[in-house]
Amino acid sequence: MAILYSRIVSLLFVFLLSSSSSSVFASSFSPSDEYLVNCGSDVDSTVVDNRRFVGDDANAKFFSSEDSIALLGEHLSPNVPQIYRTARVFPRQGKYKFNVNEEGTHMVRLHFNRLNSSKINLDDALFHVTVNGHVVLSNFSGDESSRVVREFLIWVRVGELVIRFVPSKDSNFAFVNAIEVISAPKDLIADVATSVSGDGTERFNGLAKQAMEVVYRINVGGRKVTPFNDTLWRTWLPDDGFFKTADGSSSSSEKVYFTGRIKYRPGGASREVGPDNVYNTARVGKRSNGLVDMSWDFPLSAGGVYKYLIRMHFCDIASKSLGRLYFNIYINGNLAYEDFDISYAAGDVLASPYYIDFVVDHTTADSNKNKSPSGSSITVSVGPSNKTSVDVQGVDAILNGVEIMKMNNSMGSLDGYVSADMILNTCPNRRNVSIFIAMLAFMCIFMSFYIVARRKKARDDYGWTKLSMDVFEDNNPMSGDQLIARKA
Ligand SMILES: *[C@@H]1O[C@H](CO)[C@@H](O)[C@H](O)[C@H]1NC(C)=O
Ligand SMILES: *[C@@H]1O[C@H](CO)[C@@H](O)[C@H](O)[C@H]1NC(C)=O
Ligand SMILES: *[C@@H]1O[C@H](CO)[C@@H](O)[C@H](O)[C@H]1NC(C)=O
Ligand SMILES: *[C@@H]1O[C@H](CO)[C@@H](O)[C@H](O)[C@H]1NC(C)=O
Ligand SMILES: *[C@@H]1O[C@H](CO)[C@@H](O)[C@H](O)[C@H]1NC(C)=O
Repeated sequence: MAILYSRIVSLLFVFLLSSSSSSVFASSFSPSDEYLVNCGSDVDSTVVDNRRFVGDDANAKFFSSEDSIALLGEHLSPNVPQIYRTARVFPRQGKYKFNVNEEGTHMVRLHFNRLNSSKINLDDALFHVTVNGHVVLSNFSGDESSRVVREFLIWVRVGELVIRFVPSKDSNFAFVNAIEVISAPKDLIADVATSVSGDGTERFNGLAKQAMEVVYRINVGGRKVTPFNDTLWRTWLPDDGFFKTADGSSSSSEKVYFTGRIKYRPGGASREVGPDNVYNTARVGKRSNGLVDMSWDFPLSAGGVYKYLIRMHFCDIASKSLGRLYFNIYINGNLAYEDFDISYAAGDVLASPYYIDFVVDHTTADSNKNKSPSGSSITVSVGPSNKTSVDVQGVDAILNGVEIMKMNNSMGSLDGYVSADMILNTCPNRRNVSIFIAMLAFMCIFMSFYIVARRKKARDDYGWTKLSMDVFEDNNPMSGDQLIARKA
């Protein structure tokens, strides 16, 4: 046993890299914690999108590893980026450990690409991932598509951030191709939001310390924004696949593109909350085109009860003058904000960005019980309000961006009703021992009852407590500790 544990502990990777942000677009923000790791690579560093990923194999001084395997993908097309050409594979539990210098929200991005290899068949990959006591992935196989990035926002204290990879079964592997751990700017996640339900709205406190997974990040009316062009190296997708209107046509809305300067100001959204590329495009609804609500529908994967953070980004790049754009905001058909006055919110400045955070509860059917979870989606809408102007040329509603983030459940998990402790304790080697102890305890209890019953039958007049003490002494050689010691 001791040997097995020391092996697991020895899968300890410590990276003490000096963080040097080189992105030309992020000149205003330089994170105090920034670790970019190209897993399974023996190349010292690789530049991807202007960022330097450090090989975990090449920098052997940062970690030691006995059981993990550095895997090189075979038959890869030449245009696959470097970080997706290698992986670190864990046949047993393993971990990466990063020093945290700044308390607060950290962005954790895990990159997966299930490589082809004649050495190891990654079709056997099935694993759990935990980050500092939160389950972020469970029974994950990494095969959702060829390349997958899963992004998490985790609040951490000064100290360390530990990412553990745990194979689901003895016969399974865990793997990862690249890891990013970056401290987020202080204003990225505020602590207060508005909770929305059929009963109305109320204040939601304690947002900042929830663990979250980014489920959708959408640039409304615009193009895809890649990490290269984002202030925090995020990806924003176009909204075309999610957009719909109440009348089924999209002719009553139009995309707008703004070529002027986006005026970031204190109290509004910062450039890190959303980059120019997100705020300078939008979709607008216009009276002249027929007045209907604009909606976006975001399907959710099946399984469980979670709260979701819905962040809506606004920037009035369409109005000709201030004080003319008022609209209602709905989440899942419930009124979330009535008569939103975008000019007032943006401090009476046009083209100045602002965002609003809403929280909703969402229950989706379990994928195992219900193969077709219908109605499992979140709908956000903007539409005309009672204060909507009568100006025929006017804009009646606008939306520039949407982010949807899943919050951890009461077990601290983002993926299933299971806690990190449960996952780490059912690691295959330990499980056998705990079943053994349970069986042993059962046997002891059974035997004590048996002996108590026999003595009772013999009309022995000892008290029950005394009897059980005797039994315990009688069975001392059978006690759990000694048997385990013998087995080890
Ligand atoms: C593995 O090989 C298959 C078939 O050649 C190919 O379709 C797939 O994209 C490859 N996977 C990766 C991650 O390169
Ligand atoms: C993984 O899947 C197995 C089989 O479906 C299930 O029994 C187990 O509870 C799952 N584990 C987690 C942590 O979700
Ligand atoms: C970055 O943005 C510019 C201007 O919008 C665009 O021309 C360029 O293709 C983008 N680059 C990447 C890598 O997305
Ligand atoms: C708009 O005005 C009507 C009539 O004054 C009122 O009943 C309604 O609650 C108001 N708000 C909305 C969102 O329609
Ligand atoms: C998320 O997990 C923490 C414990 O880590 C817990 O206090 C909190 O209530 C959880 N959030 C939700 C929404 O259940």
